[in-house]
Amino acid sequence: MFAYPVYYSNIPKIVRDFIEDNRPLWQGKRVFIIATMGLFSGDGAGVSARLFKKYGAKISGGLHVKMPDCIGDVKLLKKSPDDNREIIKQAAQKIDEAAERYRNSGPPREGLSVFNRIAGLFGQRLWFYGKTKSYAQKPEINGEKCVGCGICEKLCPMENIKVRNGKALSGNRCTMCYRCFSECPKKAITIIGKKVIVQYKFDDRTI
Ligand SMILES: Cc1cc2nc3c(=O)[nH]c(=O)nc-3n(C[C@H](O)[C@H](O)[C@H](O)COP(=O)(O)O)c2cc1C
Repeated sequence: MFAYPVYYSNIPKIVRDFIEDNRPLWQGKRVFIIATMGLFSGDGAGVSARLFKKYGAKISGGLHVKMPDCIGDVKLLKKSPDDNREIIKQAAQKIDEAAERYRNSGPPREGLSVFNRIAGLFGQRLWFYGKTKSYAQKPEINGEKCVGCGICEKLCPMENIKVRNGKALSGNRCTMCYRCFSECPKKAITIIGKKVIVQYKFDDRTI
């Protein structure tokens, strides 16, 4: 099983690199794909399915799962904490049902059809392809607000943030995961948007 969040109806660069860097692994493997998304992806599962197939894998199915969005610096899609908990509950239910179908009738094949591909292409990929082609020159760090605490540096999975002379500085290998954004105690970080609207925290009441 291979799972990832959808970015602009595409796979994040880090996911594409992972699949390509490990291409010998996929030969002859059966892969079930789960693509998580905020609202719409068209062929979120299909994008990696095509890549896996190119490297010799067989795609056993696909599932699109709505999750709370993590983009706290853009107004779109904002939900209350209760609504987000409900989304997680429904996601868990959908995964259980898919597992049941896998056992009994046949796995779901969401995002894998030619219609999904057209929807993903014209819905987003055509216009936003550049956003996932390479890693981003982000995050934006507000030097006046930053106190150099180093939380962002520790959390960044890309080692893309370094604290120098008491201030955090970013490089050009951001995968837009929003960890630094959500944990910055001074709200000094933005990624896609220009303003911190909400920082999403891990909520153990949902599990
Ligand atoms: C840079 C970026 C682009 C995104 N693009 C899309 C999108 O095109 N469609 C969508 O439904 N969600 C989009 N999202 C929302 C993510 O897919 C969503 O936050 C993610 O699937 C949540 O799952 P997670 O909790 O497993 O990270 C995007 C998120 C980011 C950070």
